Amino acid sequence: MTACAIRFYDYFPAVDSFRAEVLEGLGAHTKRIAPKFFYDACGSQLFEAICDLPEYYLTRAETKILTTHAPEISRLIGPGCLLIELGSGNSRKVRLLLEALQPTAYLPMDISRDHLRHAAHLLVTDYPWLEVHATCIDYSRRIDLPYCPEGTRKIAFFPGSSIGNFEPDDALAFLRDVARVLQTNGALLIGVDLKKDTGVLHAAYNDSRGITAKFNLNLLARINRELDGRFMLDNFEHLAFYNEARGRIEMHLASRCQQAVLVGGQRFQFAQGETVHTENSYKYGLEEFRDLARQAGFEPLRAWSDDQGLFSVHYLDARSV
Ligand code: AVI
Repeated sequence: MTACAIRFYDYFPAVDSFRAEVLEGLGAHTKRIAPKFFYDACGSQLFEAICDLPEYYLTRAETKILTTHAPEISRLIGPGCLLIELGSGNSRKVRLLLEALQPTAYLPMDISRDHLRHAAHLLVTDYPWLEVHATCIDYSRRIDLPYCPEGTRKIAFFPGSSIGNFEPDDALAFLRDVARVLQTNGALLIGVDLKKDTGVLHAAYNDSRGITAKFNLNLLARINRELDGRFMLDNFEHLAFYNEARGRIEMHLASRCQQAVLVGGQRFQFAQGETVHTENSYKYGLEEFRDLARQAGFEPLRAWSDDQGLFSVHYLDARSV
């Protein structure tokens, strides 16, 4: 592969799985749609705007941790690895590590096809020496590596606390899948949001500019655009709260009135106040997350946190898997 080249791989049957999962979720007794469907082009842009919000501390805290500890992280990882990023989005955070790591190749993986392409192009413009293999994939199902030179140490990077968007059992299954991919001499560098004061959490998911509300409501707009949906967006409102017993932020779209909505020719009834559950964002204690990692077969070697104890980054060894 010549310098500045990008290979693009498409492993995601976008429309079919979106339609099937939306129709099933809206037809369920408790209506739900998986958060992975937030990320069409518009949703991905809104998520970037969320990351810059003053209330959304996660991105700033994680960036600070990665910046502060980049030398130690690079020493632990070592040069010449195959760097796999899960849910790479705009590939902004990986930039904090690239120069020091000098990976053999970078494999960004994301469900948002156009966003992935755009980010990959920007990246090779700024890092012309970097070999990029970009894969559009629903990595929550199974991780398939499109490129894997034999004998190269594999490092997975999963920032942003997207692990929090998995149900605990699914998080365990997902981490086991990551461990399978990394064996036998790899490691996982993962960002995990920490349990904290409810007020701080509430503000992060109910920002004063209403960007998180737009992000949530864009799911209905996306259904209208792609699945011939007839949602009236004004008839739904963003609802986000911390469920302390379950240690998670819940996001819902609540129906403001009794109504029926057509999607792809099927009719769905909503009672006033009924919600579509769109996201959980689990928060972990440091030890709680280490336990989960151990159950998945990793050895937690190092964890860093910011001064305020808001966020954590873990380095998990997959050597023993
Ligand atoms: C991508 N994920 C980690 C975000 C989170 O905080 O759970 C998605 C998000 N939802 C609302 N704001 C941000």
